Amino acid sequence: MTAFTSYQTRVENALTQWLPDEQSTPTTLHQAMHYAVLNGGKRLRPLLVYLTGEYFAASLDQLDVAASCVEMIHSYSLVHDDLPAMDDAALRRGKPSCHKAFDEATAILVGDALQAHTFYVLLDRGHQLNIADRNLLAMANELTFAISSYGMAGGQALDMNLAHIQQAEDCLEIHRLKTGALIKASVLMGAYTADIHDENTLQKLRDFADCLGLAFQIQDDILDITASTETLGKPSGIDATHDKKTYPQFVGLDVARQEVDALYSKSDAILKSITSDGDRGAFDDLLSFLKTRTF
Ligand code: IPE
Ligand code: IPE
Ligand code: MG
Ligand code: MG
Ligand code: MG
Repeated sequence: MTAFTSYQTRVENALTQWLPDEQSTPTTLHQAMHYAVLNGGKRLRPLLVYLTGEYFAASLDQLDVAASCVEMIHSYSLVHDDLPAMDDAALRRGKPSCHKAFDEATAILVGDALQAHTFYVLLDRGHQLNIADRNLLAMANELTFAISSYGMAGGQALDMNLAHIQQAEDCLEIHRLKTGALIKASVLMGAYTADIHDENTLQKLRDFADCLGLAFQIQDDILDITASTETLGKPSGIDATHDKKTYPQFVGLDVARQEVDALYSKSDAILKSITSDGDRGAFDDLLSFLKTRTF
């Protein structure tokens, strides 16, 4: 991940600057928002924004907007995902989950507030940084849909409904929604910041992101079985605790691992069809990091 430290530092700086001031009222809510966001995540979704946007020649200053937005949404989704009514997880990113460090009501409000703040930052900072209206509109459209009941929230709803999960394909449908939709929006928002609207390119980027999203969540489910709580920074084995049948449980760990490899190879092939060898280095680094990730 060292190749990406500068992107991670950039998004951390933008988030620190653009989150509500921790000293402003209501201070507890604002402190909890900082706690939930500035807490050492891998920042994969911002990386996708930066890599895609820079590939298509967007400015880093403008990319900070979409990068911060997708990370605020992702962080909100983790806060709600950990709530007792959902996965009931006490640890996140190596620290007590938001509802443990604060309380449940605050954690619910952190999610509400982060979601709204995301769209404030997108429109307000987007205008300040001279991102064209049509690109801001395309980004808002992409992100709202991605986290709606047709995307992330819908996927989380299906994920909570154990009776819905009868076969491996049901898991993949859920992966596409709960995890894949935001990953796809991250790639697309990077492209829109670069003023890319060519449908052929956008569709290839969607296909690329679709493979990444599926592979990423299958890995998450594999790691839930094989990695320690200490390594993960979140409770290992929690899926089994909730009797949640995940993709590796249906097909076995070996087949699940083969599927992850196949999806990353497919994403690489799609990328090669829209990028030139000389300029693809950062994507190659990203794919090797993702293939070998341990948490
Ligand atoms: C965890 O996402 C939740 C999933 C969608 C699998 P990440 O593995 O990206 O978590 P952080 O942001 O690095 O903590
Ligand atoms: C969560 O999937 C996906 C979200 C939309 C937050 P998981 O429930 O498997 O994520 P972790 O394992 O808690 O990070
Ligand atoms: Mg969950
Ligand atoms: Mg969870
Ligand atoms: Mg998980």
